[in-house]
Amino acid sequence: MGLRVLVLSGPNLDRLGTREPAIYGTATLADVHRLVEEAARREGVDVECRQSNHEGDLVTWIGRAGDDGFAGVVLNAGAYTHTSIALYDAIKAGSAPTIEVHLSNPDAREPFRRRSRIAPACLGRVAGFGPASYVLGLAGLVGHLRAAAKPASHP
Ligand code: DQA
Repeated sequence: MGLRVLVLSGPNLDRLGTREPAIYGTATLADVHRLVEEAARREGVDVECRQSNHEGDLVTWIGRAGDDGFAGVVLNAGAYTHTSIALYDAIKAGSAPTIEVHLSNPDAREPFRRRSRIAPACLGRVAGFGPASYVLGLAGLVGHLRAAAKPASHP
């Protein structure tokens, strides 16, 4: 079987479409998931998209991702990005590399959004490109996983 990637969205991202459209645009989370699924088909990988407003769900899904057969995680942790040591610990505890993604660019917003608690546990970060942040994050993750899976070349 091919690579499987878990795509997670955290609190308030179920409100996309009507939530602060000047910042987040008008695409719904279902639209974002459709875009990611189309990108996954092009990349030749399988994605499973989930959303929760509950920190514990995200902690459990991230911690178990490797055991559940996912090779990596694309994570928009929403506001938990800025607060959650539990998510940081879950990423460290799990075996699946995780990419932090954001629709907006948190660094260009309120000062409290400039600190990411999860960034030091993540492989990389994509922010500010709207729904395309998820697609770019997936492409980066898949490139990383495929390079890591290649046998070392001998001169
Ligand atoms: C967000 C940015 C966070 O600061 C915010 O709390 C969100 C959404 C984004 O995708 O731009 O809920 O993660």
